[in-house]
Amino acid sequence: MDQAIDDGVDVLSISLGDLAMPFYKDSLAIGAFSAVSKGLVVCLPAGNSGPDISSIENDAPWAMTVGASSHDRRVKATVKLGDGTKLEGQTGYELSTLNSSLPIVFPGFPLQNGTEGCLSGSFRNIDVKGKIVVCYIVRGTFVEMGVNVKAAGGKAMIIANTFREGITTYSDVHVLPTAHVNDSSLQKLWKYKKSNPNPTATITFHGTYFGARPSPTIPSFSSRGPSLINGGILKPDIVGPGVNILSASPVKPGPGQKAPPGSYFNFLSGTSMATPHLAGVAALLKSTHKNWSAAAIKSAIMTTADRLDLDLKPIRDDYTYDSRDTANLFALGAGQVNPQAANDPGLVYDIIPLNYIQYLCGLGYSNGNVSAIARRQVQCDKIHKIKAEDLNYPSISVTLAPKTKKNITRELTNVVDGGTEVYHAVVEEPNGTSVVVSPNTLRFSKLDEKKKFTVEFKVTGIPLSKGESAEGQLLWSSGKHKVRSPISVTFA
Ligand SMILES: *[C@@H]1O[C@H](CO)[C@@H](O)[C@H](O)[C@H]1NC(C)=O
Ligand SMILES: *[C@@H]1O[C@H](CO)[C@@H](O)[C@H](O)[C@H]1NC(C)=O
Ligand SMILES: *[C@@H]1O[C@H](CO)[C@@H](O)[C@H](O)[C@H]1NC(C)=O
Ligand SMILES: *[C@@H]1O[C@H](CO)[C@@H](O)[C@H](O)[C@H]1NC(C)=O
Ligand SMILES: *[C@@H]1O[C@H](CO)[C@@H](O)[C@H](O)[C@H]1NC(C)=O
Ligand SMILES: *[C@@H]1O[C@H](CO)[C@@H](O)[C@H](O)[C@H]1NC(C)=O
Ligand SMILES: *[C@@H]1O[C@H](CO)[C@@H](O)[C@H](O)[C@H]1NC(C)=O
Repeated sequence: MDQAIDDGVDVLSISLGDLAMPFYKDSLAIGAFSAVSKGLVVCLPAGNSGPDISSIENDAPWAMTVGASSHDRRVKATVKLGDGTKLEGQTGYELSTLNSSLPIVFPGFPLQNGTEGCLSGSFRNIDVKGKIVVCYIVRGTFVEMGVNVKAAGGKAMIIANTFREGITTYSDVHVLPTAHVNDSSLQKLWKYKKSNPNPTATITFHGTYFGARPSPTIPSFSSRGPSLINGGILKPDIVGPGVNILSASPVKPGPGQKAPPGSYFNFLSGTSMATPHLAGVAALLKSTHKNWSAAAIKSAIMTTADRLDLDLKPIRDDYTYDSRDTANLFALGAGQVNPQAANDPGLVYDIIPLNYIQYLCGLGYSNGNVSAIARRQVQCDKIHKIKAEDLNYPSISVTLAPKTKKNITRELTNVVDGGTEVYHAVVEEPNGTSVVVSPNTLRFSKLDEKKKFTVEFKVTGIPLSKGESAEGQLLWSSGKHKVRSPISVTFA
């Protein structure tokens, strides 16, 4: 990152991460701090440890923490069971179709004599030769499961999600005919097996299809907040495309690490794929707004993100899909990136590098720890500390004890050149709270004009239990521009 600063880089996309740790031990956070202090935008992945809560990585407020979303393209593979039931799935394998029905076996399922996960050498007590093998993930990758099935003489594979993977399916490049189906399809498969002593199926391939719904959604793997160590800053910040991303690849798609080098295309999934999408958007904004700070670019991206999907319904979570829950803020952050809207946000929440030091001192880090992050001597007692809740962040996250009130402050900067705009605050109150914004009208007429406001939170009615969170939003709307901040309240 120091080299990138020296080279005059504007935007960094770094698809690396480790479980969240104190910033002074986190080399990515320390490097990103220097970069952001020099005006670079640093995009880092949220991690692929979802759907576990608090699995978020790269949770420093100066980083843009990117979660993954799905899109509306599928590479379709259809499983047709002997009784005519069709299960829609995905595949990246389309070399040949199965020409006839084949028997299905379920190693690893109750009383089927196999072990779980279609691991290598796990088919000793079950005959898979010439059959379709139903697998689910235990460890390794889906592609490796196919390698194991093929080596044991299996003819084809159905990968079935468990509830953990939900409805997230992949168009991975497999080594044998394969369909990857969702968790409710697994239940249908198992039900069919239990009522049929000789279950059979075929798999047919149908190529690329656009228009899948719902879209976008949050894939089950995308790491979730809340961060347990960043003082409550809401993470991830944003989500962008990270499922079945079709991209140039320097190695031949397929199993293993020793794939031959060359020029190929491949499908990959992960927040590592989402991160460069956001870096690309940041680069576009940097080119249209040459003097915006890293924080201004991040604010523009976050306050204009979409919380609704293509059918204008709240974005869904692949993990909790069957419970009909929508994606919560700890999965979605500010929402799905909307590059066009981000180019004209109207107002931004700006942050100067000193504010991050004030925040670090406010977290209670020692002088040595803050100095290690800032890479210069910092003495916290000579600095006006700020609470994490008061960092001028584009999202709002507060902790409230029973029967208490609390104020937080923010400052908006006008980035529109010319004309007066009057913004009105519209609040969606998190359950169990009342929220008052003052002033609730802000008038901007000059470029770079700054206005402060406070948001008062009050616990009302029956608060949720300790540790539970509720969500809402603050929207500043001028008619021309909408500046939206998600609000997360945690009850203490
Ligand atoms: C899961 O798969 C089933 C069976 O193919 C399909 O009917 C259903 O729409 C899928 N569910 C979702 C939410 O995509
Ligand atoms: C299905 O038949 C086609 C045409 O005969 C053949 O190319 C293909 O290999 C067959 N598929 C399998 C899985 O045997
Ligand atoms: C499992 O093994 C037992 C004992 O060899 C056998 O009776 C049974 O049919 C096997 N079940 C399956 C599903 O292969
Ligand atoms: C950015 O550039 C504009 C137009 O040149 C200028 O008016 C504005 O003050 C600059 N803003 C900052 C933060 O430097
Ligand atoms: C950070 O603080 C801890 C405890 O106060 C201390 O043990 C550690 O050495 C510090 N690390 C750095 C890099 O300053
Ligand atoms: C919050 O700020 C408003 C406006 O400045 C003020 O009226 C109110 O008393 C403050 N509330 C608290 C709890 O400090
Ligand atoms: C708020 O509470 C209502 C009624 O209990 C519930 O239906 C709704 O889902 C809650 N909303 C949120 C965002 O938690």
